[in-house]
Formats: sequence, structure tokens, C-alpha cells
Amino acid sequence: MDSVSDQFSRPLRDLRISVTDRCNFRCVYCMPREVFGPGYAFVPRKDLLTLEEIARIAQAFATLGMRKVRITGGEPLIRRNLEHLIEMLNATSGIEDISLTTNGSMLTAGRALALKQAGLRRLTVSLDALDDKTFKQINDVDYPASRVLDGIENARSAGFSEIKVNAVVRRGFNEHAVLDLVDYFRGTGCIVRFIEYMDVGETNGWNLDDVIPARELISQIDAKYPVEPISPNYQGEVAKRWRFRDDQGEIGFITSVTESFCGDCSRARLSAVGKIYTCLFATEGHDLRMLVRSGASDSDLLESIKNIWQARSDRYSELRGMNVPMPDSGKSKVEMSHIGG
Ligand code: GTP
Ligand code: 5AD
Ligand code: SF4
Ligand code: SF4
Repeated sequence: MDSVSDQFSRPLRDLRISVTDRCNFRCVYCMPREVFGPGYAFVPRKDLLTLEEIARIAQAFATLGMRKVRITGGEPLIRRNLEHLIEMLNATSGIEDISLTTNGSMLTAGRALALKQAGLRRLTVSLDALDDKTFKQINDVDYPASRVLDGIENARSAGFSEIKVNAVVRRGFNEHAVLDLVDYFRGTGCIVRFIEYMDVGETNGWNLDDVIPARELISQIDAKYPVEPISPNYQGEVAKRWRFRDDQGEIGFITSVTESFCGDCSRARLSAVGKIYTCLFATEGHDLRMLVRSGASDSDLLESIKNIWQARSDRYSELRGMNVPMPDSGKSKVEMSHIGG
């Protein structure tokens, strides 16, 4: 098998696959209603990669050293027959880990079991608050937090032992939810990770003042439940891990704004229409759909991905922190709903 490195010697290890740009939530920081309302043009069906096309592209990535797949969206569970994709990925040599990020609203008992049986190993559920007032203000579709908790329970009952909960923390919105989430999930085996609010895409009106630095949250949590840092599970792990000193489990912090982690970023993202993005904050993707649909051979596909990765020099979060002119500033960044988190 080949392996490939980018301009900063970073290998290609992870592929995050968005299977749809649609979502049943309208989180104000991701798909604000003013933009993603009734007139918004979602991707027409014919433009979506088929599940087979996705599997073929993933196979090419695996040949180049990719080992971990995360399925995202929009909301990935909207995609019909997703289990079939998971089965195909599971049968692909080289892929060692398949996980999925969901808003949890479609995790019925039956769906959770089907995902498990198809070979999904790990699940991450997004949940930004436990009180309905806050959670509904964020999801903007009147969705109660208790139903997301039901989805998590269904996943546990289906046999998922590795479940994480992602909470984006935004000043003035949900800082009070941090301790609620810690109280609720401490000791359950679910790992809550707090994400610094990021300037992804162009529609959320991001402002640095909205960001609560992880270190602020850590002191807040530590005052109630003493915590200490622990080492990463693997090189390039996105979240910084902390454990409760009383052995009640761990939590994580994703510090994209205050402490960037571009140095060992080994993640590529495949959008639902088949574009490869080499950074979460990219302005341009590389179209693989055209290639796949024009009869390219496996080696053409491989060569193309190799070239994309070898040319890569992205380090957006790092540069943001340095206060230097940003490459491609003035161009629109891709929306989160097209490439997942
Ligand atoms: P594990 O495989 O369980 O370690 O998961 P993960 O942390 O890679 O995946 P997850 O999707 O749960 O990532 C959590 C969040 O971190 C995402 O939703 C993004 O908001 C953010 N994130 C993940 N990867 C990157 C990245 O490469 N750059 C930046 N800036 N943020 C990222
Ligand atoms: N900043 C940080 N996290 C975000 N997410 C979506 N938009 C943002 C943003 N602007 C999170 C979602 C979900 C994951 C896919 O990314 O809440 O947990
Ligand atoms: Fe949907 Fe997730 Fe975006 Fe919310 S953050 S609108 S749940 S894709
Ligand atoms: Fe990777 Fe871009 Fe995130 Fe840096 S900002 S860690 S290069 S995705």
C-alpha cells in the first residue's frame, strides 16, 4: 500500500464523509433559518454521490493510508440505506474504525441496532444543553433535549459502548449548560467534549467575543469536580482529555480557537457532492465526482487524491491565532452542513 504526506509531512489518516447536506435541525450557529429557510437550494438527489461512489472513493483513500472514517452530514441519519454504506466501508481493507456524528433525533431503537449490526463502532451525539429553553433556542425546531437523551439510551441498548457527546459552547447562549452536562454524564461512560465555537462557514456571524476559552470551562468544572489532564489516545487526537480525579470518567475540550491543533491534522473531508476539502475552513474543494462519473480508473482516482494531499498546506486555526493575513480571505468558506464537523 502507498502512503502519502502533505507539505508539512502530515499523513492522510482520517476521512470525514458527509452523506447529505440536509438536517432536520436549524441550529443557529450552523444552519440559521434566515439562510437555510424555505428558499434554500439543497443539493438535488442526482448530485449526491451514491453510496457505492462514496465506498469507492473511501477505498482509494484507504489505499493511501487512511484508517479512520467518520460519517457526518448535515444529519447523516437522514440518508436512506446508510447502513449499506457502513457495511461496504467495513469490508474495505485498511479501514479500522468507523464512527458517526449525529444530532441523535433519529436514533430509534431499531435504527441504532441496524447501525450496530452494519458495523458502526462509535457514535458521537451533539447536544448543547439539557434544559429545553436553551436547547430549543439553539436547534430552532422546538426539539426537546429529552428525546436526544432517549436516542443516546437507544444507542447504549443496541450495544454501543463508545458514545461521546459534543457540546458547542457559545458565550451568552449556553455556558450554564456545561455543568448540567457534566452532572448528567459523569459516571455514565459517555464522554462529553466541549467545543470552542468556531468561525466555520459564512452564515453564523462568528465573533471572537462569543468564544469561551476551554481553560475557563476547565476551571469552572474543576471547582465542582476536580479534574486532571491525561495523555491523548493517539497522535493528533482533536480533543484534549481530562479525567475526574474521583474516577468517574473523562471529559474533553476541543480548542480550535485558543490552542490550535493543525500541526498533526491528518483529516480530509468528502462533501455529499463529492468534493474533497483538506481543511474545515477551506474555500475550495476538489471535485472527485466528475472524475468518478467520467469513467476514471482506480489508479486515476488514486493519483488524483495523492496529488490533492501532497499539495496540501492548510493550517487555518494556527494562522488565525497568529494574527497574520489569512490565505483566501475574501473568498467564502464552505458551510459546516456540507462537510460535517
Ligand atoms: P474521535 O475520533 O472520537 O477522537 O473524534 P473527533 O474528535 O475527531 O471527532 P468529532 O467529530 O467528534 O470532532 C469533534 C469536533 O471537533 C468536530 O465536530 C469539529 O467541530 C471539531 N473538529 C474536528 N476535526 C477538526 C479539525 O480538523 N479542525 C478543527 N478546527 N476542528 C475540528
Ligand atoms: N463551531 C463549533 N462547532 C460546531 N459545530 C457546528 N458548527 C460549529 C461551530 N461553528 C458542531 C456541531 C456538531 C459537530 C458536527 O460540529 O455542534 O457537534
Ligand atoms: Fe444539523 Fe448538526 Fe448543523 Fe445542528 S449542528 S443544524 S444538528 S448539522
Ligand atoms: Fe486541520 Fe484545518 Fe482544522 Fe487546522 S484548521 S486542524 S488544518 S481542519
